[in-house]
Amino acid sequence: MFCGTDIGLDLGTANVLVYVKGKGVVLQEPSVVAIDRDSRRIIAVGAEARRMLGRTPGNIVAIRPLCDGVIADYDVTEKMLRYFISRADGGRKLLFRPRLMVCIPSGVTGVEERAVRQAAVQAGAKEAHLIEEPLAAALGAGLDISQPSGSMVVDIGGGTTDVAVLSLGGIVCSKSLRVGGDKVDEAIVKYIRREYNLAIGERTGEDLKMEIGTAYPEGEEDKSTDIRGRDLVSGLPMAITVRRRQIHEAIKETLEFIVSGVKEVLERTPPELAADIVNKGIILTGGGALLNGMDRLLSKETGLAVLVAEDPLSCVAIGTGCALSNMAIISAVSKGKAFKKIV
Ligand SMILES: Nc1ncnc2c1ncn2[C@@H]1O[C@H](COP(=O)(O)OP(=O)(O)OP(=O)(O)O)[C@@H](O)[C@H]1O
Ligand SMILES: [Mg+2]
Repeated sequence: MFCGTDIGLDLGTANVLVYVKGKGVVLQEPSVVAIDRDSRRIIAVGAEARRMLGRTPGNIVAIRPLCDGVIADYDVTEKMLRYFISRADGGRKLLFRPRLMVCIPSGVTGVEERAVRQAAVQAGAKEAHLIEEPLAAALGAGLDISQPSGSMVVDIGGGTTDVAVLSLGGIVCSKSLRVGGDKVDEAIVKYIRREYNLAIGERTGEDLKMEIGTAYPEGEEDKSTDIRGRDLVSGLPMAITVRRRQIHEAIKETLEFIVSGVKEVLERTPPELAADIVNKGIILTGGGALLNGMDRLLSKETGLAVLVAEDPLSCVAIGTGCALSNMAIISAVSKGKAFKKIV
């Protein structure tokens, strides 16, 4: 039961995570909703809905309401959010209204914030705050950002990559790229289509990335795996073998885009803070940090040390929780710019 408890929510384009103070991350589910096309009734949310992606009959659609780091379907996002907040307490009714800290994708506009606010109110929040993703990621990665010392965080999510230099509890310079794991998956799907005339779904593309994908193939064994899809010439199902180096070939351009975003922020970083980053290195968070060799690629390209956070997929959710506990301290030093109260 929530006794005026704090809840942190990472509303990501790929995954939604719920953090409850004192309990940690209590829920982690894909940001996918299956709805009935006609009645707009929700059929399934989360992992169950993800299994339906690309596999639904005509009247049901499995959708990802947050796409490319923005809210693509306002209505469904609100329903999904409400569902996750209510599940945070194991499905029981919230007896005492909680405080919420929500991290939303960086591309979300003021209008879209309304969806989050409405969902928060509907779910019974006493107050709700929004936090920017790089800040939450840094807090969740355990960085002490309250000091006058620069830290650099690169959060590679599903829809967006957020690059930021933080100091004194605030963001000094940053860039948000509409490129993340989804674009990497798409690049793999396109490559397989081009090279083999084989149509595969996004999920197969993502599986390939996780299984044999690499950002930095040097010194790595050239593993291979079998995949299935539909042959575009014969129209029949077919299996092929794909090698690691091919997947690298497919995704390298997308990764170069991320690397250039990081370099751009480094170029804009004030010299004193740049010196701090040389000492501390770059911290990688988000699911994209788990891509094999991503740290080595960034390190080679920037000449800096690159460290993958302990639990990159949970950093933002943990950070939202930390932010609620440390709100007074952080907002005092950053003059309230880091948070935005919405309810
Ligand atoms: N082991 C892995 N190797 C490569 N990529 C991975 C791995 N595990 C997860 N990912 C990728 O990480 C991405 C999801 O990361 P994350 O949950 O941080 O995104 P998100 O927070 O939902 O998105 P965003 O921050 O853009 O809104 C997906 O693209 C997924 O394919
Ligand atoms: Mg994220």
